[in-house]
Amino acid sequence: MQYTENQQKAINHLDGNLQIIACAGSGKTQVLAEHIVNILKIKGNADIGPANIVAFTFTEKAAGELKDRIHTLCREQLGTDFGLAEMFVGTIHGFCLNLLQTYQYRFLKYTVLNEVQQRLLIDRHSKESGLSDLTTHDGKPLERWKDSRLYQKVLSIVREAQVDEAALGNHPVRQALAKYQALLERKRYLDYSTILTGAVKALIEDQVL
Ligand SMILES: Nc1ncnc2c1ncn2[C@@H]1O[C@H](COP(=O)(O)OP(=O)(O)O)[C@@H](O)[C@H]1O
Ligand SMILES: [Mg+2]
Repeated sequence: MQYTENQQKAINHLDGNLQIIACAGSGKTQVLAEHIVNILKIKGNADIGPANIVAFTFTEKAAGELKDRIHTLCREQLGTDFGLAEMFVGTIHGFCLNLLQTYQYRFLKYTVLNEVQQRLLIDRHSKESGLSDLTTHDGKPLERWKDSRLYQKVLSIVREAQVDEAALGNHPVRQALAKYQALLERKRYLDYSTILTGAVKALIEDQVL
């Protein structure tokens, strides 16, 4: 394939961070696949193998696409796709869950909740989940069934965005979140945010990792 100048630049950039922003269908996945194969080609002798590469996507579909292209390019350029099974190409949630379950065994007993299951949990336990601790901007308490979607959004923003702790102060959302997290823990559930934040916490704190 004849790459554009910018694509080629990205493919050749082997050291340090690289951010690629481009529209849909412009060749990001292709460049990423080529970039990975380029790392194996150029750094393969310097002890960097498939097991040292982790490629995240957000969806399973995108991961499948990326994996296919990496395999095709490897066969074309390196003559084999042997050993590629050791490379993690998958969703970021899949990687983080794997990390938690491999190094913190207690998570093997946990069930992962998707967004619908999370909402049902909140609706069934509106008090224990912290939902009824919060009010809308005009002072009405959040209600089960009606406001659980909004509450899900609040929970994910507070946990995943880099919220300014000082600005949050003693906002009731703190207490609500603590209740929700205690409910998850009691029922041995992991939701998508807990998977991500749990893995980051483990990477920062756990000596084994
Ligand atoms: N420089 C290029 N020349 C020709 N085709 C290209 C080039 N870059 C990408 N493509 C093709 O364009 C299509 C979209 O690329 P893809 O990597 O899936 O885009 P994105 O991930 O940005 O949505 C693919 O079929 C890919 O092979
Ligand atoms: Mg893509």
